[in-house]
Amino acid sequence: MANDLLSVAGLNQFYGESHTLWDIDLVVPEGGCTCLMGRNGVGKTTTLKTIMGLLPAASGAITFDGAGIADWPTERRARGGIGYVPQGREIFPLLSVEENLRIARAAVGRRDIPALVYDLFPVLEEMRHRRGGDLSGGQQQQLAIGRALCLEPSLLMLDEPTEGIQPNIVREIGDIIRRLNREQGLTVLLVEQKLPFARRTADTFAILDRGRSVAAGAMEELGEDLVQKYLTV
Ligand SMILES: Nc1ncnc2c1ncn2[C@@H]1O[C@H](COP(=O)(O)OP(=O)(O)OP(=O)(O)O)[C@@H](O)[C@H]1O
Ligand SMILES: [Mg+2]
Repeated sequence: MANDLLSVAGLNQFYGESHTLWDIDLVVPEGGCTCLMGRNGVGKTTTLKTIMGLLPAASGAITFDGAGIADWPTERRARGGIGYVPQGREIFPLLSVEENLRIARAAVGRRDIPALVYDLFPVLEEMRHRRGGDLSGGQQQQLAIGRALCLEPSLLMLDEPTEGIQPNIVREIGDIIRRLNREQGLTVLLVEQKLPFARRTADTFAILDRGRSVAAGAMEELGEDLVQKYLTV
């Protein structure tokens, strides 16, 4: 059995008075690809942001690579190896592709762009002088992933990377995630609502429902009962 690179235990989070995450448990085995699933508004994004330290946890443990990181500021989590591709991508639209990448790279004190980024995404090299905002949705998603890779993470968290993206590009993004996971040895925590995509890409799943962890296991064990109960709209 692989060790867990990331584990979350008993995580609680509040937006003001509103209790949003209730004792969330989640593990991401080292070298694996885990898909965090659940309907709209169940707390998937909140979970990733809390893992990243962008939202405060009220209680609970977050363990990454053997260290308790719940008190670490976001920057330290990022430098420590957690890469984050936010929902909606959040690239800088007025900066060039290259500037978007360099800003991320500066967080680890470097100016070069890792070869892997342009190797995985040749279109980013072709368009490196274009403004981020002039790229298509799929290209912006590639930029958001490339930017996360500039920090050379050991864990990559992606929040709905296929949302609002053309079907042919969805396939391409799936291929990239699988390549990063299986060839580059990157551990992946993916939030994804498209079931076929999740099945093709991830090897384990965890389901949230109304802010609670309700099921987890190997992807082959994600049966029709769970799909009906927690995932179909
Ligand atoms: N900034 C905020 N302030 C208050 N409540 C929030 C805030 N952001 C999200 N929420 C609420 O917290 C709950 C969880 O939201 P979250 O965005 O984590 O869900 P999600 O599973 O990522 O949904 P989606 O699939 O639509 O992206 C929802 O009820 C949402 O309305
Ligand atoms: Mg979300």
